[in-house]
Amino acid sequence: MSAVVLVGSQWGDEGKGKITDFLAEKADCVVRYQGGSNAGHTVEVASEKFMLHLIPSGILYPKTICIIGNGVVVDMGEVLTELKELQERGIDTSNLRISSRAQVVMPYHKEIDAIEDQCKKIGTTKRGIGPAYEDKISRTGFRICDLFDPGFKERFAQEMERKNLLLQKIYDAPGFEIEAIYAELMDQAARLQKYVADTSLLVNQAIKEGKKVLFEGAQGTLLDIDHGTYPYVTSSYPTSGGACIGAGVGPTNISRVIGVVKAYTTRVGEGPFPTELNDANGELLRSRGAEFGTTTGRARRCGWLDAVILRYAARINGLTDLAITKLDVLDTFATIKICVAYRYKGEILYEFPDNLGILQECVPEYIEMPGWQQDISQIEHYEDLPAAARNYIAKVEELCGVKQAIVAVGPKRTQTIVSDQLF
Ligand code: IMP
Repeated sequence: MSAVVLVGSQWGDEGKGKITDFLAEKADCVVRYQGGSNAGHTVEVASEKFMLHLIPSGILYPKTICIIGNGVVVDMGEVLTELKELQERGIDTSNLRISSRAQVVMPYHKEIDAIEDQCKKIGTTKRGIGPAYEDKISRTGFRICDLFDPGFKERFAQEMERKNLLLQKIYDAPGFEIEAIYAELMDQAARLQKYVADTSLLVNQAIKEGKKVLFEGAQGTLLDIDHGTYPYVTSSYPTSGGACIGAGVGPTNISRVIGVVKAYTTRVGEGPFPTELNDANGELLRSRGAEFGTTTGRARRCGWLDAVILRYAARINGLTDLAITKLDVLDTFATIKICVAYRYKGEILYEFPDNLGILQECVPEYIEMPGWQQDISQIEHYEDLPAAARNYIAKVEELCGVKQAIVAVGPKRTQTIVSDQLF
């Protein structure tokens, strides 16, 4: 059995797209299990750059089945745009499958997201993610299969009336023209129908047949609705448990959980960030790491690696392996710091606190490691990395108790050092 879950170990943007793309070459099936078009994956192949938000990056391999699972909230317009862009660049998209049970992101979800974030100040991506999950939980959402139901129009019109009341009376917004939205949805549904399937069945069949299945988490552990830095989180479960719910597989089917760890830390949006650097080192990480959001273009906040977070991620996700990304971004630093604990009002904390007021006041306790100060971006074998880089990785492994399997030293597929074949 080879079913591997890939999760972000920090606040998202760890480089999961690149690792997924790398592993997808061997995978028979790649599955997105949560989130929506708030995710942004950049994959570089030869001189081409692909930016995907909803379609799994495995789509770039013609033999890989790519699944958008039931736990994802689907913006159909976005899927159609991505399909068009891929097809125009000669990519075969016939292997895409979309869960019939996935929820639909409606135009009003995006509108409400934008309006509400003005007061909530989470700094959301405005892709309608929170409102779509709210409707799912309150049982007023629509699944893809509902769009093909004869009673859909009536239910949809009733819900749109409620949403228009909310928009007009509470938010002082114009609302939507029901017939126009309905017609747009029907058009999108018709164009996507050939991709719609019972994807849990497909994934379980693949696992039974001994195929290699990769579950691709979006966002990261600290953006998880339960385990993240609430309320500055997304509305889904990016952690490994989310793969079971969001793809319809039992936990006994999962063989490995890989934590993708960026060699330093970044965060987009609001909320506490203990190792954040508001200085020249932070600037250097941002410029060397091109730390600007794929989805929103926002500059990411940057800081040193935080082992308190990694230990937490190892625990919550049950990590079996690490994929360390962007190690080359640290090439020019003479000294590199790792946060090993927090100091809070004179007390040393080794565990990640639940209370954001406490986290906000935590001061990192750092250890310093010598940098390697050389270009590692062309290195192909682990043993050829400079000793200082290997020491840095060994320290990370020791601090979180999980071994590395992959180290990425640049954005291209070829810039990937593999110590352990995960499939
Ligand atoms: P939402 O997912 O759009 O509701 O945004 C909630 C929070 O998650 C905000 O702080 C976003 O910046 C953050 N977020 C959502 N998706 C990503 C991602 O793919 N990478 C990093 N941060 C994200």
